[in-house]
Amino acid sequence: MKEDILSYIKSPIQEELQIFEKKFKASVKSNVSLLDTIMGYIVKRKGKQMRPILVLHCAKLFGDINETTYRGASLVELLHTATLVHDDVVDESNLRRGFFSINALWKNKVAVLVGDYLLSKGLLLSLKNKDFQSLEILSSAVEQMSEGELLQMEKARKLDITEEIYFDIITKKTASLIASCCGIGAFSTSKDNEILKQVMIMGEAIGVAFQIKDDLFDYGDNKVGKPTGIDIIEKKMTLPLIHALNLSTPSEKRHILKILNKDKKTKNEIQEIITFVKSKEGIQYAYNKMLEYKKISEEILYSIPTQHSTEYLAALINFVIERKR
Ligand code: IPE
Ligand code: IPE
Ligand code: MG
Ligand code: MG
Repeated sequence: MKEDILSYIKSPIQEELQIFEKKFKASVKSNVSLLDTIMGYIVKRKGKQMRPILVLHCAKLFGDINETTYRGASLVELLHTATLVHDDVVDESNLRRGFFSINALWKNKVAVLVGDYLLSKGLLLSLKNKDFQSLEILSSAVEQMSEGELLQMEKARKLDITEEIYFDIITKKTASLIASCCGIGAFSTSKDNEILKQVMIMGEAIGVAFQIKDDLFDYGDNKVGKPTGIDIIEKKMTLPLIHALNLSTPSEKRHILKILNKDKKTKNEIQEIITFVKSKEGIQYAYNKMLEYKKISEEILYSIPTQHSTEYLAALINFVIERKR
C-alpha cells in the first residue's frame, strides 16, 4: 500500500529524481578518503527522499523544473542528512535507515564533522550559483531546527513540556525544513510572494503531521529502520505522553515522571510508560491531531491556483500519515 502511494507520487518525476540523485551524489564528492568513504555509505543508504520530492512537485505546481529547482532539492537533502547525522549523536542512536548510524560506525567525533561538511556543501552549492532566495529560506530553517532541538533538550531535562511547547518544538525542528522544501521548490518557478507564503504554510502543516507520525512510530514495535522506544529512553516527551499526563492524577503523574527521569530504565519500566500512555488513549489523541494538520495542509493545497502536481501533492500528504517508516 505504502509503496504504491510512493511510486504514484514519483511517477511524473522519475527522470527528474534520477537527475537529482546524480547531482546529489556529485555534490558530496571529497578528496579526503575517509570523508569519501562515509559519503559513499550515506549516498547508498538513501532515505525516502520526501524533501527533494516536495521540492520537485512544488516547483511543478507553477512551471518547469530547472537548475535552481535541482540545486534546491540537493540543498534540502544535504541539510536534512546533516541534521540526521547530528541527531543520532544527540540521541545516542545507532541505527538509521536500517543500517548502523554514522556515529555507531565512526564515533561521535567523526559524525559531528561529517554533519558540518554536509551542511557546508549545501550552502556552498547554493551560494556559488547565487540562489539567494533558497539560501535565505533554508538558513532560517537551520536556525529554527537548532532552536527546536535545544528547546527539546531543555524540556527533557526539566520534564515540564506542555502541548503548546511540543507543537513549538516540532514546528521548529521538523516543519520548518519541510516548509522550506515547499518554498524553495515553488520559488524556483514562481516569483509570486503571496503564493510562496501559502505554499510554505502548507509545508509547515505537512511537517507537523510528519513529526507526529514519527513520534507515533516510537510507540510501535514495527521495523522502521531506526530504534523505537528511544524517545522514552531519552526523556523526550511527545504528544501521546503529554496528553496522557494531562489526563492523569497528580500521583499517577509523579509516578510516571519518576520513571521517565531515570537515566537507566528497565524494559519493564519503559513498557509501563507505554501501557500508561495507551490506557489514556494518548496514541489515538496524537493520531487525531495529525489528521487535523493533514486537513489544514489539504485545504491550503486545494486553495492554491496551480498548473500541475496538485493530485501528487495530495497523495504525498496521504503518504505522510500512512507511511510505514
Ligand atoms: C527523519 O526524517 C527525521 C524526522 C524529521 C523525523 P525522514 O523520515 O524523512 O528520514 P529519511 O530521509 O527518510 O531517512
Ligand atoms: C527529528 O526528531 C530530528 C530532526 C529534526 C533531525 P527525531 O529525533 O524524532 O528524529 P528521528 O526519529 O531520530 O529520525
Ligand atoms: Mg533522533
Ligand atoms: Mg523520532
